[in-house]
Amino acid sequence: MPTTVREFRSGDAPLTMVTAYDAPTAAACETAGVDAVLVGDSMGNAALGYDSTIPVTVAEVASRTAAVARATDETLVIADMPFLSFGVSEAESIENAGRMMKEANAHAVKLESGPHTVELTERLAAVGIPVMAHLGLTPQKVNQLGYARQGTSEEAASEIADLATAHADAGAFALVLEHVPANLAAQVTEAIDIPTIGIGAGPDCDGQVLVVNDVLGLSDRLPPFAEAFGDVKSEMDSALSAYVEAVETGAFPAEKHSHVEADLDDLY
Ligand code: KIV
Ligand code: NA
Repeated sequence: MPTTVREFRSGDAPLTMVTAYDAPTAAACETAGVDAVLVGDSMGNAALGYDSTIPVTVAEVASRTAAVARATDETLVIADMPFLSFGVSEAESIENAGRMMKEANAHAVKLESGPHTVELTERLAAVGIPVMAHLGLTPQKVNQLGYARQGTSEEAASEIADLATAHADAGAFALVLEHVPANLAAQVTEAIDIPTIGIGAGPDCDGQVLVVNDVLGLSDRLPPFAEAFGDVKSEMDSALSAYVEAVETGAFPAEKHSHVEADLDDLY
């Protein structure tokens, strides 16, 4: 599995990326053989109880990224730069991206991209901070765009294609394409040398990314381009109800839990 962005290249099989926001989930991702873990600002919705990504802070992403980095050693760890932590002033952008690397041990950062991030991508790459770009639906623009599919007109599609090339030329090591027509994603994938990672962007990207809550079957609402590959929500519900019932009926703790003499050193 890649631990450097140089190794994060399309090979025979498509690249796999999934989000994770904590150590046990990141460890499970590594065991499953994912190529990259994205500590996405989707944590706002998926882990922190917000209804968008707007309130997510640098400190929150850094703390979660550090947990993910501690739990993995063979997986590329990418920290998502939250709303307004980049693209306002260059010095602050570099400082915030630097925190993800120095404090949180990320291997790379992801930025929701646009015309305002071309120079910044080049600057970050120049100082040693690898950048994953992100075009199409960019949820930090929810107050302008909503969650609409992007690149649907000819003009919008060619704007995305041009920005993809500009970010590849600026030194981005990969590009997320979110909720865009499959033919546009295929065209961009063909046009640029860096790997494209799709979410709601059809089958022709170099890789795929999903939010881990969706993969696990832990989300209340599943976007139509995602798929639940398990039913962790009902596992959680049934384990927790079983625990409540066992305590309330006196079935737990049982005899074997009640006179434990061993020290716990071996566990830690
Ligand atoms: O925050 C996130 O999870 C993302 C992915 C959906 C690409 O940006
Ligand atoms: Na994100």
